[in-house]
Formats: sequence, structure tokens, C-alpha cells
Amino acid sequence: MERKEALELFERLYNRPAEDLFTAAGRINVIGEHVDYCGGKVFPAALNLRCNVYGRKNGENVIRVAASDLKRVVELQIDRIGEYKSLKWGNYQAGVAYYLKESGTPLVGCDLLYDCTVPFGSGLSSSAAIEVSTAVALSEYAGVAYDKVQLALISQKAENKYAGVNCGIMDQFASAMGKKDHAILLDCATLDYEYVPLQLGEYCIVVANCNKPHNLVESKYNVRRHEVEVALKKIQEVKKINALAELSVKEFGEVKYLLSGVVAKRAEHVVTECARVSEAVAALKRGDIVELGRLLNESHYSLRDLYEVTGKELDMLSSLARKETGCLGSRMIGAGFGGCTISIVKKSAVEGFIRHVDKAYFDAIGYRASFYETSIEDGVTVSKL
Ligand code: GLA
Repeated sequence: MERKEALELFERLYNRPAEDLFTAAGRINVIGEHVDYCGGKVFPAALNLRCNVYGRKNGENVIRVAASDLKRVVELQIDRIGEYKSLKWGNYQAGVAYYLKESGTPLVGCDLLYDCTVPFGSGLSSSAAIEVSTAVALSEYAGVAYDKVQLALISQKAENKYAGVNCGIMDQFASAMGKKDHAILLDCATLDYEYVPLQLGEYCIVVANCNKPHNLVESKYNVRRHEVEVALKKIQEVKKINALAELSVKEFGEVKYLLSGVVAKRAEHVVTECARVSEAVAALKRGDIVELGRLLNESHYSLRDLYEVTGKELDMLSSLARKETGCLGSRMIGAGFGGCTISIVKKSAVEGFIRHVDKAYFDAIGYRASFYETSIEDGVTVSKL
């Protein structure tokens, strides 16, 4: 929705004009998939696709939330903020408000309108964008100093407890801490991070959504998380580690005999993916985009064969991408089971790449993929209207 339209809608819904705009980003993840909850390093970047929240204080003891595509106002009474867990829409905001309050931030009544340009269920973290933008808006209205890393942690808690997804910290961290034209090398065990320029020379990243209908992603995600916990417990019987990511590929080889079946496969993905993250960051830093592309492909194959979170749509989309001249690598991003791929494509070849992959994907799958024009931006913005 255009800003003008959103401002008009705000006035229609709340009878007064909006005064502020808070935004938080969706994200891609260059590499490091399904390792954040295993203490690994991830390498995400914040996008121009974002959750825009228009707001103003209302002087009452209520937080009102509405969405541009629902046009219905949901009231969250501040005194009863813990009672909205089962809301169909508004539960993310209620969860963030609840945990903010628990962390000592006073809640101040306000009217908020959400206009999210991150496609839902796309693997680009629309939920993190909603959570983080809410955390920023409520903290700003509380008039307290805030730390964006803490807001990311509060947002993650809301996702874990209110949305029932046992996710790691990657998405909320990227949404809150993203920096224009940089990816964030984030150590999920310590939350230490480093911004690395995402400079790809004559190449760029193309984001494509396979458009597979969203189906039980949350429960399948939680199953994977359980499987790696089983692996960790087994290995801890013989080795003193706190997280799977602490194992090198060699060390994992020495203890692999303790694991079997899917548990062994899941753990192997985690350990090898962690190694790929370090290699990929080193390749990017020395400008070796060919090697970066190869590692993206390896990551996809591991997510397909060992972690088993791809599915025929993501496999098709990424393999069609790989066949295109000018494409150095392609992989699924996010939780998987649907959602998006990223591909590294020569800038001069992007148009043909999209045209060919779009057609071939439709021919193979029977419905179309979507391709997004993306750029890497700051995670959070706050402005007066
Ligand atoms: C989802 C989760 C993240 C992360 C990715 C997989 O996006 O929210 O915490 O686990 O899946 O890398």
C-alpha cells in the first residue's frame, strides 16, 4: 500500500492522523541455515521488504492494532495484556507487548496500523518484521532508552511462546540489527556479530518465492529442532559440548557412530553447514563469488538430503536457477518446506534469468514463482510523519 493510502486508512480507522512511522525489515540469509538454534553462525541481511507501522499515542490504557489488508481494529487492553495469546491476528503484537512489559518497559496506549510488504509465509521473516516493529513502536512510545538486541530477544520470545514456533534468534536479530548493504555474521551462541559488506561485484542476489502453499511449517520446524536436541544429548554422553555447532567436521566424524537414522543426518547437516558459513564469509571477503556460489549450492543439497526441509518446489526452483548461465549458485532460505530461494546471478543476465526460470518453473510445477526486487537496507527505521 502506498504511504498516502495507509495514512488515509489510519485516519478512517482511528479518526486522527498518524504521527510516526516505525519499520522493521524482512531478511534473507546468505548461508547458515537451521544452525541458529544449534549455536552456529548465520549470515543474514535485512531487506527493503518490511513491516511499516503507522502510529500515534492515544492517551488511553489500550493498544489498538489493525492491518492494511484486514482493516479491522483489534483492542489490546494494557491491564490484560497477557490474555491475548489465542487471538488469530494481533497475537504477535500482544506477545511482544507482554514480554516488553515483563522486561520492565511500561506500556503506553497507542493506535497502530500495520502495512507489511514482506510476503507472508515466504521464508523472508514477515513475523519477525511484525514483532520487531511492534517492539520498536512500543519502546518509543514508552519513552525509554532501548537496545535493539534486547528487542530482538523479546521478539523471539513472543514468537516462541505466542506463535508456538520454537525458532532461533536469526530472523529477529536481522530484522532489528540489519545494516544497509551489509550482511551480519552473527554468532548465535554469544550474539557477537560483525557486519560484512555484501559486495558481489558484477553479481547480485535474486530472491524468488516458490509459492508453495504454507503447510504445517511450524510443526515440521519444531520436529527438526527436537531431532538435533536428541543428537546433542547423545554426543554429550561422550563429549563435553554445549551445542552441536562446537563440533568441527572431523570431530563429528569421530562421534557419528553414536547416532543413527534421521538424527545422524540432521546433525551432519548442522556441522557441515557451520563449516560452510566460515568458508563462505572468507570467500566473500576475498571477492571469490564463484566459491560463494558453490557453497550456496552445497548448502541447498545438504538441506535437501540431510535436513530434508526443501521439497520438490524449492528443489525445482533452485535447480532451474543453477542451469542458467550467469548463475553461480542457488539455495533455499529460512525454515524451508516452501518459501524463497536466493540465487547469485550476473547483473547483466538477471532479466533473462527471471524469464527462463519463471517459465520453466511454471511448466514443471503448474503455478508460477514470484521474483522480488530487493535491496539490502537498515533493519529498523523510526521517523516522524
Ligand atoms: C526460521 C527460524 C530461524 C532459523 C531459520 C532456519 O526462519 O525463524 O530462527 O532457524 O528458520 O535457518
